[in-house]
Amino acid sequence: MLWQPSLPENYHKMTGQELAEAIAARKRELGSALVILGHHYQADDIIAHADHTGDSLKLSQIAARVAGSAPKDRPVRWVVFCGVHFMAETADMLTPDAVDVILPDLSAGCSMADMAQYEETVEAWKSIHESLTAQGWNGKVVPITYVNSTAAIKAFVGANGGACCTSSNADKVFAWAMKQAPDVKVLFLPDQHLGRNTAARFGIDVGAHTCVYDPRRARSGDELGGATPEQLLASRAILWAGHCSVHKLFRPEHCDQIRMEDRDHPEHRRTKILVHPECCKEVVDKSDLAGSTEFIIETIRKSEIGSYWAVGTEVHLVNRLAREARGRGVHVRILSDCQCLCTTMSRIDPPHLLWTLDHLAGRFSKDGKPKVVNKIGVHPEVRRDALKALDRMLGLTNPTPKFEAATALD
Ligand code: 13P
Ligand code: SF4
Repeated sequence: MLWQPSLPENYHKMTGQELAEAIAARKRELGSALVILGHHYQADDIIAHADHTGDSLKLSQIAARVAGSAPKDRPVRWVVFCGVHFMAETADMLTPDAVDVILPDLSAGCSMADMAQYEETVEAWKSIHESLTAQGWNGKVVPITYVNSTAAIKAFVGANGGACCTSSNADKVFAWAMKQAPDVKVLFLPDQHLGRNTAARFGIDVGAHTCVYDPRRARSGDELGGATPEQLLASRAILWAGHCSVHKLFRPEHCDQIRMEDRDHPEHRRTKILVHPECCKEVVDKSDLAGSTEFIIETIRKSEIGSYWAVGTEVHLVNRLAREARGRGVHVRILSDCQCLCTTMSRIDPPHLLWTLDHLAGRFSKDGKPKVVNKIGVHPEVRRDALKALDRMLGLTNPTPKFEAATALD
């Protein structure tokens, strides 16, 4: 995680209203040179200022297009990314060099992305290949990395013939990988749950034909990260032992509880369970539907009046959806009562957003010139290989979604 210096005291003394007004004023001053992107897990007081909202895929596509297609006389100079570090890195790689991508709080990382380190991945790649070769296997291992990974991991995957995926397109990328040779094994980084759920949707018997590579076990001397050579040989997907600490909090018992409450309900209510595929397979199996944050929003928006939903994803999004749906007579609740909060996403708050914009508006420069703070830059060599993985993914995905004004749910 990167270190974020503390803000001047005055930012913390401002009221919510003062912060909102000051942010709106800076946005007016900076005009079309500034684009603010907001991931769906951001709190309402950030989403209110976003020019575009979306899931990881949509935001990467928007970042690529919004900066590249701005009129020459009104170029976009700054993309302020209200999300987490890997998202800002992706935006930096997909935008022209002249655009600075800014993360308002540098400590907004993603614990899942941190679970796959470059050296460990190189080590795993080597020992997996050595074991398979020693067993006489001569197929191809295709690496896939969830975009929730560092640029270095994306570069590793790009350089080794693989692709990125998001929770919206993991199925397509998985199917693409399986066609890369007559005999393919996928190495799926860093989220074992998205990897397992995707392999199962592809029809793979995940009990018999997947295994887990745990870098912590490799560190303590287990050469194949806890997998046996036989498991490795039998696997069609090798899953990196990473996970999301937020989605891990949803348990199969929570689904059972909902079903039980429905059974006892006087009106024979039937609650649909809708979860993010970062939840474990046992939860996904007990749910009615699983998909990305964008899919979750679309599903609720299209749902029947009077329907009941239990949603397994980050609490800010669920609360916002519940409020919006209530107006249509649709009942939305979170799948479990625990606080499923992405604490790193929450580090992006109005004081940090204003502090960032104040620098861009020259409030911290003697000459009033814009000053860029918290710029996220990816080294050109890393970018070159990481782009191969991103481009492979984007080539398999639908064209950039239309530009929509931020769809604030309130
Ligand atoms: P989405 O791509 O569905 O927005 O998910 C990103 C994420 O980090 C979920 O935890
Ligand atoms: Fe990372 Fe999980 Fe937060 Fe998503 S919800 S950004 S995967 S820690």
